[in-house]
Amino acid sequence: MTARVIPVDPFDLVVFGATGDLARRKLIPALYHRLADGQMPDGARIIGTARSALDAEGFRALASEALEAFVPAEALDADIRGRFLNCLDYLQLDVSTPEGWEDLRGMLSTDGRPCAYYLSVAPRFFGMIAEGIGRAGLVEPNTRIVVEKPLGRDLASARALNAQLAEGFDESQIYRIDHYLGKETVQNLMALRFANALFEPLWNARHIDHVQITVAESVGIEGRGPYYDHVGAMRDMVQNHLLQLLCLTAMEPPARFEPDAVRDEKLKVLRALEPIDDPADVVRGQYRANGTAKSYREEAENPDSTTESFVALRARVSNWRWSGVPFYLRTGKRLRNRVSEIAIRFRDVPHSIFPGVAPLPNMLAIRLQPDEGITLSMTVKDPGPGGMRLTDTTLDMSFAERLATTGMRMPDAYERLVMDVIRGDQTLFMRGDEVETAWGWIDPIIAAWQSAPPPRPYDPGSSGPEDALMLLHRDGRRWREIEA
Ligand code: BG6
Repeated sequence: MTARVIPVDPFDLVVFGATGDLARRKLIPALYHRLADGQMPDGARIIGTARSALDAEGFRALASEALEAFVPAEALDADIRGRFLNCLDYLQLDVSTPEGWEDLRGMLSTDGRPCAYYLSVAPRFFGMIAEGIGRAGLVEPNTRIVVEKPLGRDLASARALNAQLAEGFDESQIYRIDHYLGKETVQNLMALRFANALFEPLWNARHIDHVQITVAESVGIEGRGPYYDHVGAMRDMVQNHLLQLLCLTAMEPPARFEPDAVRDEKLKVLRALEPIDDPADVVRGQYRANGTAKSYREEAENPDSTTESFVALRARVSNWRWSGVPFYLRTGKRLRNRVSEIAIRFRDVPHSIFPGVAPLPNMLAIRLQPDEGITLSMTVKDPGPGGMRLTDTTLDMSFAERLATTGMRMPDAYERLVMDVIRGDQTLFMRGDEVETAWGWIDPIIAAWQSAPPPRPYDPGSSGPEDALMLLHRDGRRWREIEA
């Protein structure tokens, strides 16, 4: 069975930084898959630009290598690969100089088709490129610009970036990627909440005890030391991915699944986040060495680093729906397993009718990765004689299994997001005010660290520092295990 695809019109996609890591690992393979699935129409063009002295043939060779490295062999087809490589063109362009922009104009189609500029470059080039595109007169109503985090490192720099982009582009033309929003299961969270009558009546403080959002990684900082050490887990993961997950979990039902309807609701959640005043509500950690694993400081090559590779915190959304319900967030590198999930812990039954046994609470877990799926833990009677003994069982819906039965594969987030850019659908992209509001909440937390003790050490392969466990223990709760 082939995937159902909504065809898009022919487009020009200009990728700045086309020889870089993101383009090779993610964009080129994503576009290949869209072509293989029949979504990229004839005449679509991908124009790579970078400083490297390549021609179209050289770029095609580089793209071909990227396909071999990052597309599973069974999905690589010689004919499709040939058709894909034929869509590619290349322009050598140093965006810091005024030269070359006219050549870019000369390469673009003139039939009024959508044209997207994908800035797969370091953020210091965002302003320069946006300005270059504007100066060369390349902004038409059908033009879009795509940027990806880091979108600033605090509120002031995020505002400056938004202002820079706004000089040449209307907000409706700006696509700010948070790749978590492109993940299938994250979209499924919206389907689960708003396409089922079952959960929404229970989705509030009356029935939910607390929410846990975990994005645990088993990898370390993987050669990204100089970047990561300047950023840390709070800016790298919490400000964007975890807060976006929190928004989708906590938001009110939008009237329609449309860009501003959804983004307005997410913004309201961000605005309802209570400032964190109590330092005990945030735990920072940094992995130390153990056995053969290097410490964070060794990997970052900064022996005095106080950058956090782990954060756990207790957030509160102060509105009618969520009053009194803690949202516990945690993320970290070099943890026990790679697990991303949102777990909704329902309240205990108000009264147990079974003498001497307390039913276990229901827990709805939305697993983003790996083993994408949804589980709901329920209390049932332990089968067999011996009185009314209760036990825990799990209703388990694995998306991977479902896909396997249909012969489909789980698409990468970038496949969905790039095609949404071409279609002009901003629903899964962050609006400028969301990004700023998220920074406005994060900034004071980071500022308070100036006078706080350094991050707590934790062992590679663990669940993070002890203090993170305490964050829940003191509330009489505990984290779910970080189990693969
Ligand atoms: C990125 C972060 O945004 O997300 C990385 O910069 C992190 O540090 C990555 O590893 C995690 O993404 P995923 O899709 O692998 O969960």
